[in-house]
Amino acid sequence: MFASEIYSARRNELRRRIGKGLILLPGNVESPFNYPNNTYHFRQDSTFLYFFGHNVPSLVGVIDVESGVDTLYGDDFTVDDIIWMGPQPTIRDFADEVGVAEAKPMAQLVVDIQRAIALGREVHYLPPYRGETKLMMSELLGIKPEMLHARKSIDLLFAVAEMREKKGAEELAALEEAFEIGYHMHTTAMRATRPGRSEHEVAGMVDGMALRYGTGVSFTTILSQHGEVLHNHDHSGTMQQGRLLLCDAGGEHLNGYVSDHTRTFPVGGKFTQKQKDVYNIVLKAHDDAAAALRPGMMYSEYSDVAFHTLIEGLKELDLVRGSVDDAIAAGAAYLFMPHGLGHGIGLDVHDCENIGERSFSFAELEERAKASACCITRAWWRLMPGTVLSNEPGIYFIPDLIDKYKAEGKCKGIVNYDKLEEYRDFGGIRLEDDLVVTETGSKQIGSKQIPITVEDVEATVGQE
Ligand code: GLY
Ligand code: MN
Repeated sequence: MFASEIYSARRNELRRRIGKGLILLPGNVESPFNYPNNTYHFRQDSTFLYFFGHNVPSLVGVIDVESGVDTLYGDDFTVDDIIWMGPQPTIRDFADEVGVAEAKPMAQLVVDIQRAIALGREVHYLPPYRGETKLMMSELLGIKPEMLHARKSIDLLFAVAEMREKKGAEELAALEEAFEIGYHMHTTAMRATRPGRSEHEVAGMVDGMALRYGTGVSFTTILSQHGEVLHNHDHSGTMQQGRLLLCDAGGEHLNGYVSDHTRTFPVGGKFTQKQKDVYNIVLKAHDDAAAALRPGMMYSEYSDVAFHTLIEGLKELDLVRGSVDDAIAAGAAYLFMPHGLGHGIGLDVHDCENIGERSFSFAELEERAKASACCITRAWWRLMPGTVLSNEPGIYFIPDLIDKYKAEGKCKGIVNYDKLEEYRDFGGIRLEDDLVVTETGSKQIGSKQIPITVEDVEATVGQE
């Protein structure tokens, strides 16, 4: 946790931006795994963490905009809890640690919220994404669960995303620490990879590193020789000489900040020439995008740099023909890389995604999104100093997508479908690092580089 002044300053800034009413920020509750007392690993809501700091279940924060008083609601642990959990701080202690004036029992929350509603005060909230939170909010606000989304606060949504997107010095330091976990995870995967070993054994080692150096993974580890399946959580394969292994994994630090990296490497330790050719195109796209990134650049300009490099490289392999711009306009880039170049990173591995374009449509909010230019709508995202985002180009050979494009006559005369047949079982390559936009350009998060050049990767794979 950071110093209490940091949380007070954040809440004051949010108060200034919202101007009026109450801001209701529920933390997460424990979520049962298979029976009530056997719960999933607890993860706090990231917006609650940002403003109220505590990674503790069953707390709710309320910011009163007009009175300037913040309140932390929760119930003190009883002796019955302490028998199982050991001595615990009180809600008052939790409030003091983050500079919150009031600490109240949870039963008081509904009373205070309903009183505010009766007085005609607006209660700002973000769209809840967990069932338990939806039910609690529904009861508190007197809004049916299915209507909660429609009545979310647009002002709060933009204010939170704008604030969380621009990382302060203390957050950047935390992200550097999260990088170290990612470094251990990825170098472990490379060193442990060898023909005959099962994917799940290596995936287990990767996840173990996340727990050894941090609180665990920042998302479910993707590790597979079928790298063409973008989010492949199936680790049932046995590693085979000649195949590539894609590992996309990240760790979470104690303070909640995360890392997200991808490396793709040869199971037997040496790339074939064909693999090296495709790999170096992806690596050049990765390097070109990072080198081009400047403050004030639109996200679309940043990703176009990578798409241009990818298509230029694919032209050299005679997989694409004609002009780069024509190929991109015809959709060739999507055929080989059907995902975006990056996403915000911070307390979430896809930062603020619960309030972003990937959670609901911003079609009716286009003007607001343009004016805000923050991470929640990538079409209007302007990259400014303090923004942290991933840089993750890839080239994938996805047989079903190739067949679809070909059957529909897409990219005819642009994509060399005959030559592409030679790559049907190639798999996929993705390379990912995390960047922070600076005053003059960008900097890669991390004190060192997870091996990425062909030489460095080959020198690392299998070296247990
Ligand atoms: N690392 C997984 C993703 O970015 O979607
Ligand atoms: Mn990513």
